[in-house]
Amino acid sequence: MPRLNHLSEWSALAKHRAELGEVHLRDLFAADADRGGRYSLQVGDLYLDYAKHLVTDETLSLLRELAAARGVNELRDAMFRGDKINFTEHRAVLHTALRAPRDAVVEVDGENVVPKVHAVLDRMAAFTDRVRSGEWTGFTGERITTIVNIGIGGSDLGPAMAYEALRAYTDRGLVFHFVSNVDPADLHEALVAADPARTLFIISSKTFTTIETITNATAARKWLVEALGDEAAVAKHFVAVSTNANEVAKFGIDTANMFEFWDWVGGRYSYDSAIGLSLMIALGPAGFRQMLDGFHLMDEHFRTAPPEQNAPLLLGLLGIWYRNFHDAQTHAVLPYSHYMSKFPAYLQQLDMESNGKSVARDGRPVDWDTGPVVWGTPGTNGQHAYYQLLHQGTMLVPADLIGFARPLTELGELAEQHDLLMANLFAQGQALAFGKPAEQVAAEGVAEAEVPHRTFHGNRPSTTILATELNPSVLGQLVALYEHKVFVQGAIWDIDSFDQWGVELGKVLAKRIEPALTEGAELPGLDSSTATLVARYRTKRGR
Ligand code: F6P
Repeated sequence: MPRLNHLSEWSALAKHRAELGEVHLRDLFAADADRGGRYSLQVGDLYLDYAKHLVTDETLSLLRELAAARGVNELRDAMFRGDKINFTEHRAVLHTALRAPRDAVVEVDGENVVPKVHAVLDRMAAFTDRVRSGEWTGFTGERITTIVNIGIGGSDLGPAMAYEALRAYTDRGLVFHFVSNVDPADLHEALVAADPARTLFIISSKTFTTIETITNATAARKWLVEALGDEAAVAKHFVAVSTNANEVAKFGIDTANMFEFWDWVGGRYSYDSAIGLSLMIALGPAGFRQMLDGFHLMDEHFRTAPPEQNAPLLLGLLGIWYRNFHDAQTHAVLPYSHYMSKFPAYLQQLDMESNGKSVARDGRPVDWDTGPVVWGTPGTNGQHAYYQLLHQGTMLVPADLIGFARPLTELGELAEQHDLLMANLFAQGQALAFGKPAEQVAAEGVAEAEVPHRTFHGNRPSTTILATELNPSVLGQLVALYEHKVFVQGAIWDIDSFDQWGVELGKVLAKRIEPALTEGAELPGLDSSTATLVARYRTKRGR
């Protein structure tokens, strides 16, 4: 396959970009009264408005031609089929099988994996019912009221994000903590008010060798055994979620209390597997299944919708347009929902660990930019912090504004606070796109010298995603939308979106440095900067 930037479709886009120049959204809207209607899509419960993008019909059709030339659909079909498209790890990429209906058939190495997926879901559901009903008790016979998920990266961010997002649907009698940081403060704060006799730990780790998780799990076990005075208590207070039964057993958790997943599920694509056990306990099995159905709805849309109406394809292509043809280095995700506060951090791992790559499939360095920095916080808070740069800074920051028509709290209904929240979302999209021209500022009587400071150039692109309400199915639809968007971009950039070799070096070096901190071990060949930092740390630590 030719290199991406040697494709005629790539050159056509570069030429088109030059021809478009600085065309303004004000003019694009003026020229087409129905732009808002034409540049929109409805998929499941999500309404996507992409009218406020720096694109024309021609841009979109050139982008779709690029996707076709890159074989995005063929790679998509290969993924759904179970081909080993994670070629650096020789693995299939089948998070879509995690939400496939019971009667679906998805084969890996000739074996249909769907029955295994549902067998684990059923075990999770049975366990969930036992915990929620109080039938599963702790070692001393007390009911479980605190659940602590210990995991990191994909074994933390998904359940932590979704628990927060779906709080309104959770059992409020249960307290949940998500502990990830190897900083002992994280576990300490989770346990400081917890009653050991009523606490259940879910140790979530695909590999079960991740140092942060194993260290926290070991500390938690010590805390529990010391409090309850018996090693046998571990069996009633620790369960594991992993692909690695050997390591789970080595750690001392009975594999009868292990919930399995498989190497064809990437960590950052895993929270709809057993990694979501804590979430299922919070929501109940029915809520979890509604979420899986939402994922599946978007999977089917991505697999079957024509390119003109394919939402993940569209979002992926818009990202390519800004990253590669507008030099946008970051992408903001701005949910107008307090419940969605962890969604940007979740997408950060999904996107940046997937597409933060600089080597193409043929092993040669890419000559084109790949994944952007993905970031964000809930919208209104951001408005009073960093939106200044979004509106008047020198960088182009494409943004996703995400909101929900219905509030989930009584306060939202009674005080019309929700309308105010959503008014802010719509206003920001408008301000970013259309700005406020100098003439308008001057006409308001602003002193001449101040006019440039108060002028908004506008022309800053955003997508608005409006859903009816935040519920388990809608969250599933949203997450799958972004998963497939990331897929589309990786396919176009010709990289492996499913490995993460870039995180390995730091892990290896930390293991090497640790004995120097604890025991003063020699580190031959250490650079002078790190050597000074290590020595200084030891002195200040009193070692
Ligand atoms: O950061 C690297 C990584 O491998 C992530 O991809 C993964 O989600 C995380 O570490 C945790 O890994 P594990 O689930 O094996 O503990």
